[in-house]
Amino acid sequence: LHHIISTREYSREMLDEILDMAEKLEPIARGEKTTKIMDGKLLALLFFEPSTRTRMSFETAMLRLGGQIINMGSVEASSIAKGESLADTIRVVSRYADAVVLRHPREGAALMASEFSSSPIINGGDGAGHHPTQTLLDLYTIRRESRLDHLNIALAGDLKYGRTVHSLCYALSRYGAQINLVSPRELELPKRIVDDLKARDIKVHIAHSMEDVIEEVDVLYMTRIQKERFPDPAEFNRVSNSMRITEELIEGCKPNLKIMHPLPRVNEISPAVDKTEHAAYFKQAFYGVPVRMAILCKVLGVDL
Ligand code: CP
Repeated sequence: LHHIISTREYSREMLDEILDMAEKLEPIARGEKTTKIMDGKLLALLFFEPSTRTRMSFETAMLRLGGQIINMGSVEASSIAKGESLADTIRVVSRYADAVVLRHPREGAALMASEFSSSPIINGGDGAGHHPTQTLLDLYTIRRESRLDHLNIALAGDLKYGRTVHSLCYALSRYGAQINLVSPRELELPKRIVDDLKARDIKVHIAHSMEDVIEEVDVLYMTRIQKERFPDPAEFNRVSNSMRITEELIEGCKPNLKIMHPLPRVNEISPAVDKTEHAAYFKQAFYGVPVRMAILCKVLGVDL
């Protein structure tokens, strides 16, 4: 089975293959062309945490390709509320569908699910662990809106709990990126990931202020402080509002700087930035559709 769990082991060839497929699928994602290549295929959505983009872009991707969706809906409306385990849920749902997208608050849940599943598991985010399909759409956005090779990028915000940056670091390492890690001291990238990057000969620069890097970078990837992952609310209160992108901050930036964000944002990007040519985050959210189409084709073995 072709599970999608983490980007840690992905080669540049594997990443490029998905991005190339996504490029071919973009006209279908935009509704400019139609296809039925997924006719008869069924995708199950199991979301144990809230989502707008991941859930709805997978739905859009499957429907635009001519496939169909089954959705567990809310945890409260499922037998999880009666105490059913994740393992049993996966054993059952993977027999109904050709592939399963799982989002779960526990790190490692997707890997665990893959051991019980009779169809491919796609990790739609596992706690503070990984979010590999977000990474593929992030790479696609960088390729479309900036450049992937020898990129100078800042990953900013909550690098401790932010699963999108954990997955993105590993993928960027395949393209020789210079990675600036900008966060409050309490929310630095876990040391094991920094060590992995250094072992791959990636230039890593740790900073605690966006002013330190803003003039140098090609891409500024902002993330939300992950309130829901803090064991202690007081700890969250200490770091919330600590980093914010404003028009003033980007005054001295490179003319072609692209600002990205996996979304949702709370207050870490001023709405005034939306109208600047630097803002790429809404395009990024759209690119989730062709990229997830490509992922579905790969996982389900469907030829373009
Ligand atoms: N970027 C992302 O995962 O968004 P959702 O939480 O809305 O799916």
